[in-house]
Amino acid sequence: MQKESAHSRILELRAELERHSRLYYVENAPEISDFEFDRLMRELEDLEAEYPEFRSPDSPSAKVGSDLRGAKASGGFVQRAHRYPMLSLSNTYSLSEIEDFARRADKLLGTDSFSYSCELKFDGTAICLSYKDGRLVRALTRGDGLQGDDITANALKISNIPHRLKGDFPPEFEIRGEVLMPYAAFEELNREREELGDAPFANPRNAASGSLKLLNPEEVAHRGLWCTLYHIPAESVEFASHSEALDAAASWGLPVSEHRRICKDINDIEAYIRKWDKDREDLPYATDGIVIKINELANQRSLGYTAKSPRWAVAFKFKAEQACTRLESISYQVGRTGAVTPVANLEPVQLAGTVIRRATLNNEDQITQMDIRIGDWVFIEKGGEIIPKITGVDLNKRQSGVSPAPFPTHCPDCGTPLIRPEGEARWFCPNTDGCPMQIKGRLLHFCGRKAMDILAGDATIEMLFEGKLASSPADLYELKPQSLLALPGWKEKSVLRFLESIEKSKGASFERVLFALGIRHVGQTTAKTLAKHFRSIDALADASVEVLKEVGDVGEVIAQSIWDFLHDSAKLAEIGRLRAHALKFSLEENEGAKLSSALEGKTIVVSGNFSVSRDRIKELIALHGGKSSSSVSAKTSFLLAGEKSGPEKLRKCEALGIPLVSEQEFWAMIPDNKDKVEYQELTLF
Ligand code: IVH
Repeated sequence: MQKESAHSRILELRAELERHSRLYYVENAPEISDFEFDRLMRELEDLEAEYPEFRSPDSPSAKVGSDLRGAKASGGFVQRAHRYPMLSLSNTYSLSEIEDFARRADKLLGTDSFSYSCELKFDGTAICLSYKDGRLVRALTRGDGLQGDDITANALKISNIPHRLKGDFPPEFEIRGEVLMPYAAFEELNREREELGDAPFANPRNAASGSLKLLNPEEVAHRGLWCTLYHIPAESVEFASHSEALDAAASWGLPVSEHRRICKDINDIEAYIRKWDKDREDLPYATDGIVIKINELANQRSLGYTAKSPRWAVAFKFKAEQACTRLESISYQVGRTGAVTPVANLEPVQLAGTVIRRATLNNEDQITQMDIRIGDWVFIEKGGEIIPKITGVDLNKRQSGVSPAPFPTHCPDCGTPLIRPEGEARWFCPNTDGCPMQIKGRLLHFCGRKAMDILAGDATIEMLFEGKLASSPADLYELKPQSLLALPGWKEKSVLRFLESIEKSKGASFERVLFALGIRHVGQTTAKTLAKHFRSIDALADASVEVLKEVGDVGEVIAQSIWDFLHDSAKLAEIGRLRAHALKFSLEENEGAKLSSALEGKTIVVSGNFSVSRDRIKELIALHGGKSSSSVSAKTSFLLAGEKSGPEKLRKCEALGIPLVSEQEFWAMIPDNKDKVEYQELTLF
């Protein structure tokens, strides 16, 4: 390449990489795959190596991608300097470059009698924890590597980050690692977001890093985040090796991966890579490669760092598993908020052990940007999530018969012209009160386990709606046994069970009722905050947008949405009817106060299915003074094991000697439980 064109390509690549780095680290909404990003970075590095005169300390090749929003305390967090720079890792997709790394290490260290620590490369967002006298005193994001956002209050809400250490810990040290969102939590979060009419996260990594930067720590607590720690800066501790330092960290109660291996040579390393390239499919969280570190800290010190990464470590990245298949059609689903979501229907194809028939397409822009046409061959990737994504079109295979897929102009369900509000990436059906999909979606949401917990799934709602028995939540409370018995397949027993669950729902707390109403953007946490703050629907309805905005984490958009809902005459009439059926629209005198101290000091992990919803169980744990946690650790007092408890959790309990408690035993632990009595009555049918 000519020097001049090399220079302009370098400038072009820098601008491109800066843009994608911001989309990835700050916006949490990447437009290209990691593989494509790494390919552009490698092209830049190669050009800068060939033309060193164009090198610059400002180049993305010389600095770590920054997660900071901008200057000082923007984004709501205070920025603080790292004691030791928080660097990145050099990476490769090629085994021969791993062999080069090992050869170079032999040469530079002048010996081959050293070892490697091989670890998983966790695909989340980096965090740096500082402990002083055994207490967690600070948590920072990586930021730009020199200073990060202070997210201590949020880190304290991540269930497996200890607030206090045990054992023989140093008086002061730092430890770094990754915050992850396990697949199960990710799927649930996205389901909730779609229900609320919020855009879903593209992958668990984006969801983890977006969640770590939430302004309300209470909301962070509900995101199911999980942390794994993998690096204590060698300067801050006195151990002979990295593996000893991490073993010690584990003994102080810190979460350290159990999948680390000491490898003595390249053959061991390659065996480790082969194992995890396959076994990582079974992990409950995302990994995107493995990290190979020289184990002895003295050797690490003598190899040192470049401006961007340590010379003593390298990452081998796995290429995401891809498949190529034909796009047969696109369906458009209408959610309860009216948001229209495109779903790709694919010619069935095998990918990572499952047959894939559908893939998500986020919005119209994604379809236009990729120029996806019906009949095209498309690449699909699965990052561990249940529904895979379309990552591109194989233009070489495009045939003449393919047709563009214009986004519908009218609602696929009720035919109303769609609208795309300013600033929204999605189209909406504005026929809120008449669109069957929206009506059924709202009913389903109202009945949901986290809302009123009424025994009605898709099929029941469909029948009630089609049979003209229910089109709004209040209709459910006016259902007559005779009309239900007339529905196909309904027997006396199922009618009684259903009506019983409706009756029981009248006991649901104000915060659940508020959530069940389905106010756009008001999820469980916001409903809870609002219920606590205003204590009644009347006080909430009296609040101006300004007053609503004073509540933690309620911004302009949420405040406006609440205000609009509570100033809509049809919604108010519906609330009036629900009130007449004795649903709770205010907190009771001493509601929220503890019921007993029966579970005081207990940390309980809840897994499996119970006779009441898992959320209700967690609520009860809190009301009786206990704490529920999402993952099993040495701190767990017991696992409350329902039907079909997670096998991984059961195994871990066995390994750590943590007792299992059945639902029946649990009821016996807490005084006079109403839920239990009602459940037993219900099963008498
Ligand atoms: S060690 C001095 N170990 O990958 C570098 N990093 O792409 C210390 N990562 O910035 C990092 N798993 O956020 C290390 N087992 C592991 C890791 C790991 C994931 C992340 C880390 C790093 C990024 C580089």
